Parts: sequence; C-alpha cells; structure tokens
Amino acid sequence: MNFDTILVDKKEAIATITIDRPQKLNALNKTTLLELNTVLTTLESDINIQVIIITGSGEKAFVAGADIAEFANFSVAEGQNLARKGQEIVFNFIENFSKPVIAAINGFALGGGLELAMACHFRVASDNSKMGLPEVSLGVIPGYGGTQRLPQLVGKGKAMELIMTAGMISASEAKEFGLVNHVTTQEELLSFTHKIAQKIMRNSPVAIAEAIKAVNANFDVEKNGYEVEIEAFGNCFGTPDFIEGTTAFLEKRKPNFPGF
Ligand code: COA
Repeated sequence: MNFDTILVDKKEAIATITIDRPQKLNALNKTTLLELNTVLTTLESDINIQVIIITGSGEKAFVAGADIAEFANFSVAEGQNLARKGQEIVFNFIENFSKPVIAAINGFALGGGLELAMACHFRVASDNSKMGLPEVSLGVIPGYGGTQRLPQLVGKGKAMELIMTAGMISASEAKEFGLVNHVTTQEELLSFTHKIAQKIMRNSPVAIAEAIKAVNANFDVEKNGYEVEIEAFGNCFGTPDFIEGTTAFLEKRKPNFPGF
C-alpha cells in the first residue's frame, strides 16, 4: 500500500507508521488523517500484526501539530467538522484500537501532534523532544481530544497551565508529569520501543484487547468501568488463549497463544 504522507514498515509482527512530511515538521493535514485511518483499518484486521508504533520522520519533529495552513480560513461549522471528523477517524479510533498502539515521540509533539501521541495507549520519547498544546497562542483550542486526554494523563492543574501558557515541556519534564513512560536517546528510541512491543507480544492478544476496553471504560462517562471489566474478564474465559495461558502455567511451560 502506497501513501503520500505516511510510511508503513512491518517487522516481526510490529507495524511502524511514520508520519512523513518532514519539510512541514510532519504537520497533520487532511490527507495524513485519511491515510492514518486507512492504514489503521487495514492493520486492525491484519493477523500478522500485533503492535503498532507511531513516530515521525526526521530528527526534529514527531508531529508539530495540525496543518495550520489548511484551517486558517475555516468557519465555525468547518472548525467543528474538522475536530469531530478528526477525533472520530483517527484519535478515538487509536484510543479504542484493539491492538496496542505506542507513540515513539522523536522531537516536537505539539498541538495535534501531542494529541496524536496522547490518543496512543502509551508514549516513549527521545530526550530532544518538546511537547505542548500551543493552540491558544493561535486563538484556538486543542480540538483532537487534547483538553480531555491531557488532564487524564497529567492532572487538571498541570493540564490547565500547559494549555493556558501554550508552553512546551521537555521529555524529562513530560516523564515527571506522567505524560511519557520512558525517555531514551534519539538513536535508541525505536529499538527501545520495539523491546517493549516484544514484551507485550508474549501475552495474549485477546486478553490485551479486553484490557484496553476495560481501562478505556474508566474514562468514558457513559460506561461503568467495573461492569465493563466484569464482562471483559468473563469474555476471556471463552477463548483458546485463556485455555493455552492457564494450561501452559500448570504445565510449567511458556504459553504459545493462538491469538483468539
Ligand atoms: N502547520 C503547518 N506548517 C507547519 C506547522 C504546522 N503546525 N509546524 C511547522 N510547520 C512548517 C513551517 O511553516 C515551516 O514551513 P516553511 O518552511 O514552508 O515555511 C516548516 O514547517 C518548518 O517549521 P519552522 O517554523 O520553520 O521551524 P522552526 O524550527 O523555526 O520552529 C516550531 C519549529 C515547531 C517551534 C514551529 O514550527 C511551530 O511553532 N510550529 C507550529 C506549532 C503549533 O502551533 N502547533 C499547533 C497547531 S494547532
């Protein structure tokens, strides 16, 4: 599959999606969002892929935001539509993806770029990264879920300050805030993230999908997370993965999960 603004590399059941507009610091335009939706839809049903990593092209930026040139002349209705459609086809889609999606932040993650990273299930950053939601400096607010996911990750007070000041924080501050889980050198970012992916891949893909659903329910006001957990827990008992996992434990061997 060929794309104009993203690259996709598949290795050992890990698909790495690279946002590839380095001359625009990988800013997300309409094409990028559509291509992300297309590739993610394909990867979700690709039985050979278990983990997705999202990163940016070049050494300077993960993603420096939504493409400002594209929305500079938008009306109120167009602005709402941009946010609604983007949230639906990319950001919420990633958050609820049934396979783990990890952001490997390799530089500037600003505005829509940080929102993309926050929609992923967790984040690893290189030590040159800078993160922030600078939208109010442009007279707008984060529209791809940033006002919701930043407080979930760092708490309300820190989120308010970051959003109001339109400031940027370093990778080490982001780790202190709980916004990223690990900080590496830029050279080691992808190999380190691959190692985490490999640890994940030792476990049951079906159980992981149920866990994603249950954890996400905690942040969905329309759901009772405990009820979602009970149902998801029960679902696992009907799977070959559960039979393999428990049998392997009792037989004192490593499980070989069929993945369903
Ligand atoms: N949308 C569109 N184009 C963008 C962009 C964005 N979010 N971020 C960077 N670019 C473009 C620049 O316009 C420039 O293009 P040009 O060479 O055709 O003029 C190119 O990427 C390089 O960026 P530049 O600003 O020259 O790099 P820099 O090193 O001086 O500054 C940043 C880096 C990240 C500080 C700066 O690009 C920036 O502030 N970007 C916007 C961040 C932002 O507000 N994001 C939220 C959007 S909602």
